[in-house]
Amino acid sequence: MLDGKRILLVVAGGIAAYKTLELIRRLRERGAGVRAVLTRAGAEFVTPLSLAALTGDKVYGELFDLTDEAEMGHIQLSRDADLLVVAPATADIMAKLASGRADDLASTALLATDKPVLMAPAMNVRMWEHPATRDNHATLRRRGTLFVGPNQGDMACGEYGFGRMAEPEEILAAIAGHFAAAGRLAGRRALVTSGPTFEPLDPVRFLGNRSSGRQGHAIAEALAAAGAETTLVTGPVALPDPPGVATVHVETAEEMLAACRAALPAEVAVCAAAVADWRPARKAEQKLKKDGGGAPPVALVANPDILASLAAAGPQRPALVVGFAAETENLEAHARAKLAKKGCDWILANDVSPQTGTFGGAETTLYLIGPDGSEPWPKMSKREAGRRLVDRIAERLGGAEGARLPGAAQ
Ligand code: C5P
Repeated sequence: MLDGKRILLVVAGGIAAYKTLELIRRLRERGAGVRAVLTRAGAEFVTPLSLAALTGDKVYGELFDLTDEAEMGHIQLSRDADLLVVAPATADIMAKLASGRADDLASTALLATDKPVLMAPAMNVRMWEHPATRDNHATLRRRGTLFVGPNQGDMACGEYGFGRMAEPEEILAAIAGHFAAAGRLAGRRALVTSGPTFEPLDPVRFLGNRSSGRQGHAIAEALAAAGAETTLVTGPVALPDPPGVATVHVETAEEMLAACRAALPAEVAVCAAAVADWRPARKAEQKLKKDGGGAPPVALVANPDILASLAAAGPQRPALVVGFAAETENLEAHARAKLAKKGCDWILANDVSPQTGTFGGAETTLYLIGPDGSEPWPKMSKREAGRRLVDRIAERLGGAEGARLPGAAQ
């Protein structure tokens, strides 16, 4: 089940490190190759010899060990891996990665990698609950680090609470789950729009909106993480380009439409951009001047509807076209009307009433609406919503003919 997968296992300093030995055995039984990096503190709990015997490989320890660097540089270590697993992940190694510090081989390999990282935290309950660790955990999750555990229970230090490392079996399941999820959309092409559009009035002024792009970017990232060849067409946002995604930066709705057309064919298109409905009929060549009287009249013309164009793209139409509907009332009724009007397959209806804090915020409350069913999703982070949408897309694209929305009225 893990045949040929290459795991770089970072063993940090915690009493739970003894359980990591069992994890290595089970990973290798399932066909994975495991290479271990042992931190200095980790070596107080398990010996390099035990790790070498179980991995069947040399154990890597010191960043500036010249022999290690000559044989296998720290960059190469993570380049050669499909997944980095940190077990046990101490409060210290979480803090290092959250703050970008790299002062030993383990933290350097973690910082130098573009591969997914799975952490299995293990620490005293008070350390786990400390605001610093809470912040580091949130930061790492936001950046895409995966976590398994910690569990609740009796701890080696005599206390009770969250902080016990997940059992080897659970870590194994999380690793297997990651690889199963990672390949679900392999060979598929996906297109996502995100962010606002800026429609120029003159060389310095524009009409725009407050869309942050967080939801669209999270969807693109989740599609790429599931193996889809993903193009993100984004308006101006203050977000980094998501990893593994071909990102095209545009300003106006017309540019966004052209970039979307150029990205076809694609099996799935998700339109999360807050496209300006109108643009100034003409852009002044020079900056408009205040002198000379009153405000300049601004005539507006309608922008192209990108979602509707993709849904009507004839032979180029993606098999699954998904739009958003930001509503403040009558969510489902308005979303259903939009589904019909735009000709798309699903609508994610978004409750953007001011009290929800959805617009520009990190969390969202969505309804997935299809022609024959709807699924309310609980309030969740936009990242989680991205992953959930990808679950549904994978079920639909990989699924039986006429696949219904999960949870749809039968
Ligand atoms: O019509 P309305 O703006 O409410 O529809 C929202 C949905 O349509 C979103 O998915 C949005 O990305 C898409 N849309 C678009 N092009 C437009 C307007 C909206 O793609 N010009």
